[in-house]
Amino acid sequence: MSHQADINTFLHPFLSSKGLRLSIYNMEAYLNNVRADLSLEDEDLKEMTAKFKEELELGLEKHNQTLRALPTFVYRLPKGTEKGKYLTVDLGGTNLRVGLIELLGSGKFAIEKASFIIPETLKTGSGEKIFEFIAENVKEFLARPEVQAELPLKLGFTFSFPIEQESLSHGRIIGWSKEIECPDVIGKDAVELLQKALHRLGLDIAVEALVNDTVGTLLAQIYRDSRTKMSVILGTGSNAAYVESCANIRKLAIEADHTVINIEWGSFGEDSPSNLPTRWFDRLLDSESRNSGHQKFEKMISGMYLGEIFRLILAEGVKRKVLTRCEDSKSTSKLDLIHGIGTEEMSEFHQAYIEKDYIKCSEIGEGFGIECENGDGLLQFIAELCELISLRSCKLCAVGITAIYRHVHNFDDEEEVFLVAVDGSLYQKYPNYAKILQDMVCSINSGPEANSCKIELVMAEDLSSVGAAAAIAAQKE
Ligand code: BGC
Repeated sequence: MSHQADINTFLHPFLSSKGLRLSIYNMEAYLNNVRADLSLEDEDLKEMTAKFKEELELGLEKHNQTLRALPTFVYRLPKGTEKGKYLTVDLGGTNLRVGLIELLGSGKFAIEKASFIIPETLKTGSGEKIFEFIAENVKEFLARPEVQAELPLKLGFTFSFPIEQESLSHGRIIGWSKEIECPDVIGKDAVELLQKALHRLGLDIAVEALVNDTVGTLLAQIYRDSRTKMSVILGTGSNAAYVESCANIRKLAIEADHTVINIEWGSFGEDSPSNLPTRWFDRLLDSESRNSGHQKFEKMISGMYLGEIFRLILAEGVKRKVLTRCEDSKSTSKLDLIHGIGTEEMSEFHQAYIEKDYIKCSEIGEGFGIECENGDGLLQFIAELCELISLRSCKLCAVGITAIYRHVHNFDDEEEVFLVAVDGSLYQKYPNYAKILQDMVCSINSGPEANSCKIELVMAEDLSSVGAAAAIAAQKE
Protein backbone atom coordinates (compact mmCIF):
# COMPACT_ATOMS: atom_id res chain seq x y z
CA MET A 1 0.00 0.00 0.00
CA SER A 2 1.27 3.49 -0.71
CA HIS A 3 2.10 5.45 2.38
CA GLN A 4 -0.09 8.19 3.76
CA ALA A 5 1.70 11.42 3.25
CA ASP A 6 1.60 13.63 6.28
CA ILE A 7 0.02 16.80 5.08
CA ASN A 8 2.04 18.98 7.43
CA THR A 9 5.36 18.03 5.94
CA PHE A 10 4.44 19.41 2.56
CA LEU A 11 4.08 23.00 3.48
CA HIS A 12 6.48 24.99 1.46
CA PRO A 13 8.70 27.21 3.60
CA PHE A 14 7.92 30.25 1.44
CA LEU A 15 4.23 30.31 2.28
CA SER A 16 2.80 33.66 1.38
CA SER A 17 2.95 35.75 4.51
CA LYS A 18 -0.04 37.76 3.31
CA GLY A 19 -2.10 34.57 3.21
CA LEU A 20 -3.45 35.45 -0.19
CA ARG A 21 -2.92 33.74 -3.53
CA LEU A 22 -0.08 31.32 -3.24
CA SER A 23 2.33 30.44 -5.96
CA ILE A 24 1.56 27.62 -8.35
CA TYR A 25 4.46 25.89 -6.67
CA ASN A 26 2.56 25.48 -3.41
CA MET A 27 -0.58 24.43 -5.16
CA GLU A 28 1.39 21.80 -7.01
CA ALA A 29 3.02 20.61 -3.78
CA TYR A 30 -0.36 20.29 -2.08
CA LEU A 31 -1.80 18.55 -5.13
CA ASN A 32 1.08 16.09 -5.09
CA ASN A 33 0.12 15.18 -1.56
CA VAL A 34 -3.50 14.77 -2.48
CA ARG A 35 -2.51 12.67 -5.50
CA ALA A 36 -0.49 10.39 -3.25
CA ASP A 37 -3.31 10.18 -0.73
CA LEU A 38 -5.95 9.32 -3.31
CA SER A 39 -3.90 7.03 -5.48
CA LEU A 40 -4.42 3.28 -5.51
CA GLU A 41 -1.80 1.35 -7.44
CA ASP A 42 -2.49 -1.91 -9.25
CA GLU A 43 -0.75 -3.78 -6.48
CA ASP A 44 -3.04 -2.17 -3.87
CA LEU A 45 -6.10 -3.17 -5.90
CA LYS A 46 -4.88 -6.73 -6.18
CA GLU A 47 -4.30 -6.97 -2.45
CA MET A 48 -7.65 -5.43 -1.60
CA THR A 49 -9.49 -7.73 -4.00
CA ALA A 50 -8.00 -10.77 -2.27
CA LYS A 51 -8.95 -9.36 1.14
CA PHE A 52 -12.47 -8.55 -0.03
CA LYS A 53 -12.93 -12.11 -1.29
CA GLU A 54 -11.65 -13.44 2.06
CA GLU A 55 -14.04 -11.21 4.02
CA LEU A 56 -16.94 -12.25 1.81
CA GLU A 57 -16.20 -15.93 2.27
CA LEU A 58 -15.95 -15.44 6.02
CA GLY A 59 -19.33 -13.70 5.96
CA LEU A 60 -20.85 -16.71 4.19
CA GLU A 61 -19.34 -19.06 6.73
CA LYS A 62 -20.22 -17.34 10.01
CA HIS A 63 -22.75 -14.81 11.30
CA ASN A 64 -21.80 -11.26 12.33
CA GLN A 65 -18.67 -10.88 10.24
CA THR A 66 -17.37 -7.61 8.81
CA LEU A 67 -19.10 -8.35 5.52
CA ARG A 68 -22.47 -9.58 6.68
CA ALA A 69 -23.31 -11.41 3.43
CA LEU A 70 -27.00 -11.53 4.32
CA PRO A 71 -29.17 -14.34 2.90
CA THR A 72 -32.38 -12.91 1.44
CA PHE A 73 -34.70 -15.93 1.37
CA VAL A 74 -35.27 -15.39 -2.34
CA TYR A 75 -35.25 -18.97 -3.63
CA ARG A 76 -36.97 -18.50 -6.94
CA LEU A 77 -35.41 -16.10 -9.34
CA PRO A 78 -37.72 -14.36 -11.80
CA LYS A 79 -37.98 -16.00 -15.21
CA GLY A 80 -39.19 -12.94 -17.07
CA THR A 81 -42.56 -14.56 -17.76
CA GLU A 82 -44.25 -13.39 -14.55
CA LYS A 83 -47.29 -11.16 -14.83
CA GLY A 84 -49.41 -9.16 -12.41
CA LYS A 85 -49.89 -5.79 -10.73
CA TYR A 86 -48.20 -4.89 -7.46
CA LEU A 87 -47.98 -1.94 -5.14
CA THR A 88 -44.39 -1.00 -4.25
CA VAL A 89 -42.73 1.14 -1.63
CA ASP A 90 -39.05 2.00 -2.00
CA LEU A 91 -37.32 3.76 0.88
CA GLY A 92 -33.85 5.05 0.02
CA GLY A 93 -31.52 7.48 1.75
CA THR A 94 -32.81 10.50 -0.15
CA ASN A 95 -36.17 9.58 -1.67
CA LEU A 96 -39.27 7.58 -1.00
CA ARG A 97 -40.96 6.12 -4.05
CA VAL A 98 -44.42 4.64 -4.13
CA GLY A 99 -45.48 2.81 -7.27
CA LEU A 100 -47.87 0.60 -9.11
CA ILE A 101 -45.90 -1.91 -11.14
CA GLU A 102 -47.33 -4.11 -13.79
CA LEU A 103 -45.22 -7.08 -14.80
CA LEU A 104 -46.16 -7.80 -18.40
CA GLY A 105 -44.14 -10.98 -19.04
CA SER A 106 -41.30 -11.24 -21.64
CA GLY A 107 -39.11 -9.23 -19.26
CA LYS A 108 -41.30 -6.14 -19.73
CA PHE A 109 -43.08 -3.99 -17.19
CA ALA A 110 -44.96 -0.71 -16.77
CA ILE A 111 -44.56 1.67 -13.85
CA GLU A 112 -46.65 4.42 -12.42
CA LYS A 113 -44.93 6.07 -9.51
CA ALA A 114 -44.69 9.03 -7.20
CA SER A 115 -41.46 10.25 -5.62
CA PHE A 116 -41.02 12.19 -2.38
CA ILE A 117 -37.90 13.67 -0.81
CA ILE A 118 -37.43 12.39 2.73
CA PRO A 119 -37.47 15.50 4.97
CA GLU A 120 -34.21 16.09 6.87
CA THR A 121 -36.22 16.36 10.10
CA LEU A 122 -37.18 12.69 9.83
CA LYS A 123 -33.59 11.50 9.51
CA THR A 124 -32.91 11.73 13.24
CA GLY A 125 -35.18 10.95 16.18
CA SER A 126 -37.92 8.36 16.18
CA GLY A 127 -37.89 5.89 13.28
CA GLU A 128 -41.64 5.41 13.70
CA LYS A 129 -42.01 8.79 12.00
CA ILE A 130 -40.31 7.49 8.87
CA PHE A 131 -42.85 4.68 8.68
CA GLU A 132 -45.70 7.16 9.28
CA PHE A 133 -44.32 9.26 6.42
CA ILE A 134 -44.33 6.18 4.16
CA ALA A 135 -47.90 5.26 5.15
CA GLU A 136 -49.20 8.79 4.52
CA ASN A 137 -47.72 8.81 1.04
CA VAL A 138 -49.02 5.33 0.27
CA LYS A 139 -52.48 6.55 1.30
CA GLU A 140 -52.21 9.52 -1.03
CA PHE A 141 -51.01 7.30 -3.89
CA LEU A 142 -53.85 4.84 -3.34
CA ALA A 143 -56.35 7.68 -3.70
CA ARG A 144 -55.48 7.95 -7.42
CA PRO A 145 -58.47 6.53 -9.32
CA GLU A 146 -56.29 4.37 -11.58
CA VAL A 147 -54.70 2.78 -8.50
CA GLN A 148 -58.06 2.45 -6.67
CA ALA A 149 -59.34 0.45 -9.61
CA GLU A 150 -56.64 -2.19 -9.03
CA LEU A 151 -57.22 -2.82 -5.31
CA PRO A 152 -56.59 -5.08 -3.46
CA LEU A 153 -52.89 -5.13 -4.24
CA LYS A 154 -49.98 -6.98 -2.65
CA LEU A 155 -47.09 -4.80 -1.59
CA GLY A 156 -43.36 -5.26 -2.29
CA PHE A 157 -41.17 -3.22 0.06
CA THR A 158 -37.68 -2.13 -1.01
CA PHE A 159 -35.68 -1.02 2.01
CA SER A 160 -32.22 0.38 1.28
CA PHE A 161 -30.66 -0.31 4.67
CA PRO A 162 -29.19 -3.41 6.29
CA ILE A 163 -31.82 -5.97 7.30
CA GLU A 164 -31.41 -9.43 8.80
CA GLN A 165 -34.13 -11.37 7.04
CA GLU A 166 -36.09 -14.16 8.67
CA SER A 167 -38.12 -14.91 5.57
CA LEU A 168 -38.86 -13.20 2.28
CA SER A 169 -41.45 -11.00 3.94
CA HIS A 170 -39.83 -10.30 7.32
CA GLY A 171 -36.55 -8.78 8.42
CA ARG A 172 -35.09 -6.88 11.35
CA ILE A 173 -33.37 -3.53 10.88
CA ILE A 174 -29.69 -4.06 11.72
CA GLY A 175 -28.84 -0.37 11.71
CA TRP A 176 -29.17 2.77 9.65
CA SER A 177 -26.68 4.21 7.20
CA LYS A 178 -26.49 7.23 4.84
CA GLU A 179 -26.56 9.64 7.81
CA ILE A 180 -29.96 8.52 9.07
CA GLU A 181 -30.00 7.93 12.82
CA CYS A 182 -33.25 6.62 14.27
CA PRO A 183 -32.12 4.15 16.94
CA ASP A 184 -35.55 3.29 18.39
CA VAL A 185 -36.46 0.96 15.53
CA ILE A 186 -33.17 -0.92 15.31
CA GLY A 187 -33.83 -4.63 15.92
CA LYS A 188 -37.48 -4.23 14.88
CA ASP A 189 -39.13 -5.86 11.90
CA ALA A 190 -39.30 -3.34 9.02
CA VAL A 191 -42.40 -5.02 7.60
CA GLU A 192 -44.27 -4.96 10.90
CA LEU A 193 -43.40 -1.29 11.33
CA LEU A 194 -44.75 -0.53 7.88
CA GLN A 195 -47.79 -2.74 8.28
CA LYS A 196 -48.70 -1.09 11.60
CA ALA A 197 -48.28 2.40 10.17
CA LEU A 198 -50.55 1.44 7.26
CA HIS A 199 -53.15 -0.04 9.62
CA ARG A 200 -53.18 3.14 11.69
CA LEU A 201 -54.34 4.95 8.55
CA GLY A 202 -56.98 2.30 7.92
CA LEU A 203 -55.07 0.67 5.05
CA ASP A 204 -55.26 -3.09 4.94
CA ILE A 205 -52.43 -4.06 2.64
CA ALA A 206 -50.35 -7.21 2.82
CA VAL A 207 -46.59 -6.72 2.55
CA GLU A 208 -45.44 -9.87 0.75
CA ALA A 209 -41.79 -9.18 0.05
CA LEU A 210 -39.04 -7.19 1.72
CA VAL A 211 -35.93 -6.63 -0.37
CA ASN A 212 -32.82 -4.51 -0.08
CA ASP A 213 -32.42 -2.12 -3.07
CA THR A 214 -29.47 -4.15 -4.39
CA VAL A 215 -31.64 -7.27 -4.29
CA GLY A 216 -34.56 -5.49 -5.98
CA THR A 217 -32.25 -4.20 -8.72
CA LEU A 218 -30.74 -7.65 -9.24
CA LEU A 219 -34.13 -9.39 -9.44
CA ALA A 220 -35.52 -6.79 -11.84
CA GLN A 221 -32.53 -7.11 -14.14
CA ILE A 222 -32.76 -10.93 -13.97
CA TYR A 223 -36.42 -10.51 -14.97
CA ARG A 224 -35.15 -8.61 -18.05
CA ASP A 225 -32.11 -10.77 -18.74
CA SER A 226 -31.39 -14.11 -17.06
CA ARG A 227 -27.62 -13.71 -17.60
CA THR A 228 -27.54 -11.15 -14.76
CA LYS A 229 -25.51 -12.36 -11.78
CA MET A 230 -24.82 -9.31 -9.67
CA SER A 231 -26.08 -5.82 -8.86
CA VAL A 232 -24.33 -2.76 -7.52
CA ILE A 233 -25.83 0.44 -6.17
CA LEU A 234 -23.77 3.60 -6.53
CA GLY A 235 -26.07 6.29 -5.22
CA THR A 236 -26.38 8.05 -1.88
CA GLY A 237 -25.10 4.76 -0.47
CA SER A 238 -23.27 1.84 -2.01
CA ASN A 239 -23.72 -1.91 -1.82
CA ALA A 240 -23.90 -5.07 -3.93
CA ALA A 241 -25.88 -8.30 -4.18
CA TYR A 242 -25.29 -11.43 -6.21
CA VAL A 243 -26.65 -14.88 -6.95
CA GLU A 244 -24.98 -17.44 -4.70
CA SER A 245 -24.98 -21.20 -4.65
CA CYS A 246 -26.63 -22.26 -1.35
CA ALA A 247 -23.92 -24.86 -0.78
CA ASN A 248 -21.50 -21.96 -0.27
CA ILE A 249 -23.58 -20.38 2.51
CA ARG A 250 -22.21 -22.50 5.30
CA LYS A 251 -23.76 -20.45 8.11
CA LEU A 252 -27.29 -21.50 7.09
CA ALA A 253 -28.76 -24.79 5.88
CA ILE A 254 -30.87 -23.90 2.85
CA GLU A 255 -32.71 -26.43 0.75
CA ALA A 256 -32.47 -24.66 -2.55
CA ASP A 257 -29.87 -24.43 -5.29
CA HIS A 258 -29.35 -20.71 -5.43
CA THR A 259 -30.33 -17.62 -3.54
CA VAL A 260 -29.42 -13.96 -3.47
CA ILE A 261 -26.90 -12.56 -1.00
CA ASN A 262 -27.01 -8.93 0.10
CA ILE A 263 -23.35 -8.34 0.87
CA GLU A 264 -23.69 -4.96 2.63
CA TRP A 265 -20.28 -4.16 1.17
CA GLY A 266 -20.16 -0.69 2.74
CA SER A 267 -18.55 -2.20 5.82
CA PHE A 268 -15.60 -3.80 4.01
CA GLY A 269 -12.35 -3.32 5.92
CA GLU A 270 -14.11 -1.88 8.96
CA ASP A 271 -12.54 -4.25 11.46
CA SER A 272 -9.17 -4.66 9.72
CA PRO A 273 -7.80 -1.21 8.90
CA SER A 274 -4.97 -2.78 6.92
CA ASN A 275 -7.53 -4.08 4.38
CA LEU A 276 -8.71 -0.57 3.54
CA PRO A 277 -6.19 2.27 3.25
CA THR A 278 -7.96 5.30 4.74
CA ARG A 279 -6.43 8.77 4.74
CA TRP A 280 -6.70 11.86 6.95
CA PHE A 281 -9.85 13.10 5.17
CA ASP A 282 -11.51 9.66 5.38
CA ARG A 283 -10.86 9.59 9.09
CA LEU A 284 -12.09 13.15 9.56
CA LEU A 285 -15.22 12.42 7.54
CA ASP A 286 -15.86 9.29 9.58
CA SER A 287 -15.38 11.07 12.89
CA GLU A 288 -17.97 13.71 12.00
CA SER A 289 -20.45 11.14 10.68
CA ARG A 290 -23.60 9.92 12.45
CA ASN A 291 -22.41 6.33 12.13
CA SER A 292 -18.78 6.90 12.97
CA GLY A 293 -16.69 3.72 12.79
CA HIS A 294 -19.09 2.11 10.30
CA GLN A 295 -19.51 1.89 6.52
CA LYS A 296 -15.93 2.98 5.87
CA PHE A 297 -15.81 1.48 2.36
CA GLU A 298 -19.12 3.16 1.50
CA LYS A 299 -17.73 6.46 2.81
CA MET A 300 -14.92 6.27 0.23
CA ILE A 301 -17.27 5.40 -2.63
CA SER A 302 -20.79 6.73 -2.47
CA GLY A 303 -22.58 9.93 -3.43
CA MET A 304 -23.36 10.85 0.16
CA TYR A 305 -19.65 11.27 0.84
CA LEU A 306 -17.57 12.18 -2.23
CA GLY A 307 -18.61 15.83 -2.04
CA GLU A 308 -17.61 15.88 1.61
CA ILE A 309 -14.13 14.45 0.87
CA PHE A 310 -13.83 17.16 -1.80
CA ARG A 311 -14.85 19.85 0.71
CA LEU A 312 -12.43 18.62 3.36
CA ILE A 313 -9.50 18.70 0.93
CA LEU A 314 -10.45 22.16 -0.35
CA ALA A 315 -10.94 23.48 3.18
CA GLU A 316 -7.55 22.11 4.19
CA GLY A 317 -6.09 23.87 1.13
CA VAL A 318 -7.58 27.16 2.36
CA LYS A 319 -6.26 26.53 5.85
CA ARG A 320 -2.82 25.90 4.40
CA LYS A 321 -3.18 29.07 2.32
CA VAL A 322 -2.84 27.11 -0.89
CA LEU A 323 -6.30 28.31 -1.91
CA THR A 324 -7.92 31.64 -1.20
CA ARG A 325 -11.38 32.36 0.01
CA CYS A 326 -13.58 34.64 -2.07
CA GLU A 327 -13.18 38.11 -0.70
CA ASP A 328 -16.92 38.63 -0.65
CA SER A 329 -17.57 35.23 0.88
CA LYS A 330 -19.41 35.53 4.16
CA SER A 331 -17.66 34.40 7.33
CA THR A 332 -19.14 30.94 6.85
CA SER A 333 -19.42 29.44 3.41
CA LYS A 334 -20.13 25.98 2.05
CA LEU A 335 -16.49 25.22 2.73
CA ASP A 336 -17.05 25.51 6.46
CA LEU A 337 -20.11 23.33 6.78
CA ILE A 338 -20.10 19.56 7.18
CA HIS A 339 -21.64 18.23 3.96
CA GLY A 340 -21.68 21.84 2.73
CA ILE A 341 -20.71 20.69 -0.76
CA GLY A 342 -22.68 17.83 -2.26
CA THR A 343 -21.38 15.32 -4.80
CA GLU A 344 -23.88 16.81 -7.23
CA GLU A 345 -22.09 20.19 -7.13
CA MET A 346 -18.69 18.56 -7.40
CA SER A 347 -20.00 16.64 -10.39
CA GLU A 348 -21.38 19.84 -11.91
CA PHE A 349 -17.98 21.50 -11.60
CA HIS A 350 -16.24 18.50 -13.12
CA GLN A 351 -18.69 18.38 -16.03
CA ALA A 352 -18.25 22.11 -16.73
CA TYR A 353 -14.47 21.66 -16.72
CA ILE A 354 -14.66 18.74 -19.15
CA GLU A 355 -16.81 20.95 -21.39
CA LYS A 356 -14.21 23.72 -21.04
CA ASP A 357 -16.87 26.04 -19.64
CA TYR A 358 -14.41 27.83 -17.36
CA ILE A 359 -16.78 30.68 -16.59
CA LYS A 360 -19.25 28.21 -15.15
CA CYS A 361 -16.41 26.50 -13.27
CA SER A 362 -15.42 29.83 -11.69
CA GLU A 363 -19.01 30.51 -10.70
CA ILE A 364 -19.43 27.10 -9.12
CA GLY A 365 -16.04 27.39 -7.38
CA GLU A 366 -16.99 30.78 -5.98
CA GLY A 367 -20.24 29.27 -4.80
CA PHE A 368 -18.10 26.95 -2.70
CA GLY A 369 -16.39 30.03 -1.26
CA ILE A 370 -13.12 29.84 -3.22
CA GLU A 371 -11.57 32.70 -5.12
CA CYS A 372 -11.51 31.43 -8.70
CA GLU A 373 -10.92 34.57 -10.72
CA ASN A 374 -7.67 34.66 -12.70
CA GLY A 375 -7.20 31.09 -11.71
CA ASP A 376 -6.52 28.80 -14.63
CA GLY A 377 -4.20 26.72 -12.51
CA LEU A 378 -6.75 26.80 -9.74
CA LEU A 379 -9.59 25.46 -11.89
CA GLN A 380 -7.28 22.73 -13.09
CA PHE A 381 -6.41 21.95 -9.49
CA ILE A 382 -10.09 21.64 -8.50
CA ALA A 383 -10.88 19.57 -11.60
CA GLU A 384 -8.04 17.20 -10.87
CA LEU A 385 -9.28 16.87 -7.34
CA CYS A 386 -12.73 15.89 -8.66
CA GLU A 387 -11.10 13.35 -10.91
CA LEU A 388 -8.92 11.84 -8.21
CA ILE A 389 -11.81 11.45 -5.77
CA SER A 390 -14.18 9.93 -8.32
CA LEU A 391 -11.46 7.68 -9.72
CA ARG A 392 -10.66 6.29 -6.29
CA SER A 393 -14.37 5.56 -5.82
CA CYS A 394 -14.41 3.74 -9.18
CA LYS A 395 -11.34 1.70 -8.32
CA LEU A 396 -12.76 0.59 -4.99
CA CYS A 397 -16.00 -0.38 -6.66
CA ALA A 398 -14.04 -2.36 -9.25
CA VAL A 399 -12.30 -4.16 -6.37
CA GLY A 400 -15.68 -5.25 -4.95
CA ILE A 401 -17.04 -6.37 -8.33
CA THR A 402 -13.87 -8.30 -9.12
CA ALA A 403 -13.79 -10.04 -5.74
CA ILE A 404 -17.39 -11.20 -6.13
CA TYR A 405 -16.78 -12.28 -9.73
CA ARG A 406 -13.76 -14.31 -8.67
CA HIS A 407 -15.69 -15.85 -5.80
CA VAL A 408 -18.57 -17.09 -7.98
CA HIS A 409 -16.52 -17.89 -11.03
CA ASN A 410 -16.02 -21.52 -10.17
CA PHE A 411 -19.71 -22.35 -10.41
CA ASP A 412 -20.52 -19.95 -13.19
CA ASP A 413 -20.57 -20.92 -16.87
CA GLU A 414 -17.21 -19.59 -17.96
CA GLU A 415 -18.37 -18.92 -21.47
CA GLU A 416 -21.32 -16.80 -20.48
CA VAL A 417 -21.21 -13.08 -20.08
CA PHE A 418 -21.42 -12.00 -16.45
CA LEU A 419 -23.95 -9.18 -16.34
CA VAL A 420 -23.84 -6.71 -13.48
CA ALA A 421 -26.88 -4.46 -13.02
CA VAL A 422 -25.77 -1.05 -11.78
CA ASP A 423 -27.96 1.76 -10.53
CA GLY A 424 -27.69 4.94 -8.49
CA SER A 425 -27.24 8.64 -9.06
CA LEU A 426 -23.44 8.52 -8.93
CA TYR A 427 -23.29 5.88 -11.64
CA GLN A 428 -26.01 7.53 -13.72
CA LYS A 429 -24.84 11.12 -13.46
CA TYR A 430 -21.21 11.58 -12.45
CA PRO A 431 -19.18 12.50 -15.56
CA ASN A 432 -17.62 9.40 -17.17
CA TYR A 433 -18.11 7.29 -14.05
CA ALA A 434 -19.96 4.46 -15.82
CA LYS A 435 -17.40 4.21 -18.62
CA ILE A 436 -14.38 4.37 -16.34
CA LEU A 437 -15.84 1.69 -14.07
CA GLN A 438 -16.48 -0.64 -17.00
CA ASP A 439 -12.95 -0.07 -18.37
CA MET A 440 -11.44 -0.58 -14.95
CA VAL A 441 -13.30 -3.82 -14.31
CA CYS A 442 -12.22 -5.11 -17.71
CA SER A 443 -8.63 -4.06 -17.35
CA ILE A 444 -8.44 -6.00 -14.08
CA ASN A 445 -10.30 -9.03 -15.41
CA SER A 446 -9.20 -9.52 -18.99
CA GLY A 447 -7.32 -12.61 -19.98
CA PRO A 448 -4.46 -12.58 -22.45
CA GLU A 449 -6.75 -12.64 -25.53
CA ALA A 450 -8.37 -9.43 -26.78
CA ASN A 451 -12.03 -8.86 -25.78
CA SER A 452 -11.82 -11.57 -23.16
CA CYS A 453 -13.56 -9.52 -20.47
CA LYS A 454 -16.76 -11.35 -19.51
CA ILE A 455 -18.03 -8.77 -17.04
CA GLU A 456 -20.50 -6.36 -18.54
CA LEU A 457 -22.09 -3.56 -16.55
CA VAL A 458 -25.65 -2.61 -17.49
CA MET A 459 -27.54 0.46 -16.36
CA ALA A 460 -30.52 -0.69 -14.33
CA GLU A 461 -32.13 2.69 -13.81
CA ASP A 462 -34.65 2.89 -10.95
CA LEU A 463 -35.45 -0.81 -11.03
CA SER A 464 -35.37 -1.69 -7.36
CA SER A 465 -39.18 -1.50 -7.00
CA VAL A 466 -39.68 -3.66 -10.08
CA GLY A 467 -37.53 -6.27 -8.36
CA ALA A 468 -39.72 -6.18 -5.24
CA ALA A 469 -42.74 -6.91 -7.45
CA ALA A 470 -40.84 -9.64 -9.31
CA ALA A 471 -39.83 -11.21 -5.96
CA ILE A 472 -43.52 -11.68 -5.08
CA ALA A 473 -44.49 -12.86 -8.54
CA ALA A 474 -41.62 -15.35 -8.87
CA GLN A 475 -42.67 -17.22 -5.70
CA LYS A 476 -46.07 -17.97 -7.24
CA GLU A 477 -44.82 -19.35 -10.56
C1 BGC B 1 -27.06 0.44 2.83
C2 BGC B 1 -27.41 -0.69 1.92
C3 BGC B 1 -27.92 -0.15 0.60
C4 BGC B 1 -26.95 0.85 0.01
C5 BGC B 1 -27.41 1.44 -1.29
C6 BGC B 1 -26.14 1.44 2.14
O1 BGC B 1 -25.95 2.56 2.94
O2 BGC B 1 -26.42 -0.05 3.99
O3 BGC B 1 -28.39 -1.53 2.51
O4 BGC B 1 -28.13 -1.21 -0.28
O5 BGC B 1 -26.72 1.89 0.92
O6 BGC B 1 -28.59 2.14 -1.16
